[in-house]
Amino acid sequence: MSPAAQAPEVQTRREGAVLVVSINNPPVNALGQAVRAGLLAAVEQAEGDAAVRALLIVGEGKAFIAGADIREFGKPPVPPSLPEVCNRLESCGKLVVAAIHGAALGGGLEVALSAHYRLALPAASLGLPEVNLGLLPGAGGTQRAPRLMGVKAAAELMLSGKHLSAKAAAAAGLVDRLVEGTDPVAAGLAYANELLAQGAQPRRTRDLKIADQAAARAELDALALETAKKTRGLFSPGKIVECVRAAVELPFDEGIAKERALFVECLNSPQRQGLVHAFFAERETAKIPEAQAAAPRHFAKIAIIGGGTMGAGITVSALDAGLTVTMIERDAESIARGQKNVEKVYDGLIAKGRMTAEGKAAILARYTPSTRYDDIADVDLVIEAVFEDLEVKKAVFKELDRVCKPGAVLATNTSYLDIDAIAAATSRPQDVIGLHFFSPANIMKLLEIVVPAKVAPDVVTTAFALAKKMKKVPVRAGVCDGFIGNRILAVYKQAADYLMEDGASPYEIDEAVRGFGFAMGPFQVTDLAGGDIGWATRKRRAATRDPQARYVEVADRVCERGWFGQKTGRGFYLYPQGARVGQPDPEVLAIVDAERAKKGITPRQFTADEIMRRYMAAMVNEGAKVVQEGIALRPLDVDVTFLSGYGFPRWRGGPMKWADMTGLDKVLADIRAFAKEDPLFWKPAPLLEQLVAEGRNFDSLNKAA
Ligand code: 3HC
Ligand code: NAI
Repeated sequence: MSPAAQAPEVQTRREGAVLVVSINNPPVNALGQAVRAGLLAAVEQAEGDAAVRALLIVGEGKAFIAGADIREFGKPPVPPSLPEVCNRLESCGKLVVAAIHGAALGGGLEVALSAHYRLALPAASLGLPEVNLGLLPGAGGTQRAPRLMGVKAAAELMLSGKHLSAKAAAAAGLVDRLVEGTDPVAAGLAYANELLAQGAQPRRTRDLKIADQAAARAELDALALETAKKTRGLFSPGKIVECVRAAVELPFDEGIAKERALFVECLNSPQRQGLVHAFFAERETAKIPEAQAAAPRHFAKIAIIGGGTMGAGITVSALDAGLTVTMIERDAESIARGQKNVEKVYDGLIAKGRMTAEGKAAILARYTPSTRYDDIADVDLVIEAVFEDLEVKKAVFKELDRVCKPGAVLATNTSYLDIDAIAAATSRPQDVIGLHFFSPANIMKLLEIVVPAKVAPDVVTTAFALAKKMKKVPVRAGVCDGFIGNRILAVYKQAADYLMEDGASPYEIDEAVRGFGFAMGPFQVTDLAGGDIGWATRKRRAATRDPQARYVEVADRVCERGWFGQKTGRGFYLYPQGARVGQPDPEVLAIVDAERAKKGITPRQFTADEIMRRYMAAMVNEGAKVVQEGIALRPLDVDVTFLSGYGFPRWRGGPMKWADMTGLDKVLADIRAFAKEDPLFWKPAPLLEQLVAEGRNFDSLNKAA
């Protein structure tokens, strides 16, 4: 084939006896149809050209090959398939060398494993992360990796989805040679020519045998048990173990056939749909209206106001991101406590052997504690995390307005308060924004970026740049009570309270929610966070509560007894001797009974399914309102909020994706049925009604945005 006739995605050129096959499919050289066809054509070209003695596969740009093209999943397959391409590469009569300089992931690593020799440059990262998408390596990876690296290491690679560095991959037997530098073509040509000079022959992974069959089988049995326990509810991990078993017990071609069948099962599973939605949604949330127009402001030095739970967590997150932090507290005692809160995190890492004392000292060299606002006159960005009290926050922002340099970004970590009102306390509302971190802030991925009316677009893009630097998942939110997450949470928590009063016990509700895939149920979450926090909010809002609206007092009765959850040894559950897993409390059930009796409610039975239909309907309905009001840009922003901040099971894709997969008509029918009991609470969102009437789903709004 003449170079002119080649697809741009795969270019070939001859360098002496080596045919350089260069993959150029930005941004990550995914194995779309054109790449697969191009690779196949390159093998044919090499075999048909007597002057070619070896093929060298390289990737252009940052990646080697980041895997199958995820956008093709769910569409009708177009040949050639990736397994066919990999098998053809492996069976090629000429030497096949892969030179990996960046990401070789999923199908990308499977292409490399089909090559006869592999080299890696220092920036290479290798992995089989299909499990994160509800899949398994479907182009021979489950058969070739165990042959190269052994059953246990291969299974660990596939079940964890972790990436290996070049060095680790070489140590594991995935890579034959490590080469310094950044040029895969030069390194690959040198290696290929050296192999040719040595008379090296094609060396096919399929021909390798798993040496100790008895040991491999024993490892597999242990693995199967452990995986079933650890990945409860997930579909693809068990299938990965089955594939590895096939690699041990069956001839290669039968193993490949088994892998194919199980891959297709995974591909067709709803979990794959949910996980792929989550993958793209997390990347979409950074696509915001301000992105084109406004470059971020510079930030390196930041200040955190408040060193409590959130201030300390945000400080750690900022220090870990390489920023310089000054922490401001009210007085000497509070700042000493704030510093202790920060040091506690690093001391925990030292105790676990994950950090050295020197490492801690190096990080803390960028940390300055202070009680004087004048010390932050030159910072680029401030994050306030003081008490959740509008007057206290306004006073802090007045101080910030006085001391901070012009152009400094002034952010608040408020959970519920009106950020427009906080901005109005300054003479520079264009610089004021919400940065709503989640607890523990050094661990939780979600960052709601709350955009008040007067903020400048470059402050919004600065917030997104900060999120990226801190490795957070940013979601753009509008100002309202609770923004996206806490606003929706308040509504489905209410649905849970109604269920409790109507007959389900808090323990049945928690169990149903866990059965759905959440790590914890709502009453366990309350006990973990501390019941007093919600109680304070309820008391604050008592005066403005709609007297017509149904109000469940059980949680107030629990709090009145001083039962605030884990920290007090009892809440909705009992925690004897500091236990972390609670036990059901008959006295709480008695409180529930008494509240029912007071209101004349005859308790009904709810199945787990009935519980979840109400819980989810409440979540989705409020989610639709949040989208309609523009608080969330798109349904996918609601999904990402819940996946990254509220423990929503990732494999379900988020509440809006769940609703799409369940059928919006079904969800709406449920809401209408529940409305017969309580029309005030179960008011269908007009957006949901509109989508159902038009036969559309939430995803159509994601695509239109
Ligand atoms: N297919 C299609 N698009 C992909 C892709 C893929 N495999 N991987 C990344 N992209 C897209 C992203 O959606 C994003 O698009 P956008 O700019 O329009 O939002 C763009 O490439 C850049 O991606 P990131 O923002 O994630 O860039 P990073 O530099 O942060 O990360 C990466 C690069 C590590 C390669 C990361 O994108 C990644 O982990 N990709 C997925 C890798 C993967 O899971 N591969 C396995 C696929 S399944 C498979 O191979 C099946 C096979 O076994 C048969
Ligand atoms: P906290 O009570 O643990 O810490 C608040 C800190 O602010 C205290 O150390 C206090 O000394 C300090 N402070 C008070 N006034 C100050 C002032 N004028 N100047 C300097 N420091 C001052 O509270 P927490 O939990 O850290 O919450 C802080 C903020 O973060 C609140 O707005 C809260 O709503 C929000 N938030 C809390 C979350 C949580 O789970 N705790 C989650 C997300 C946001």
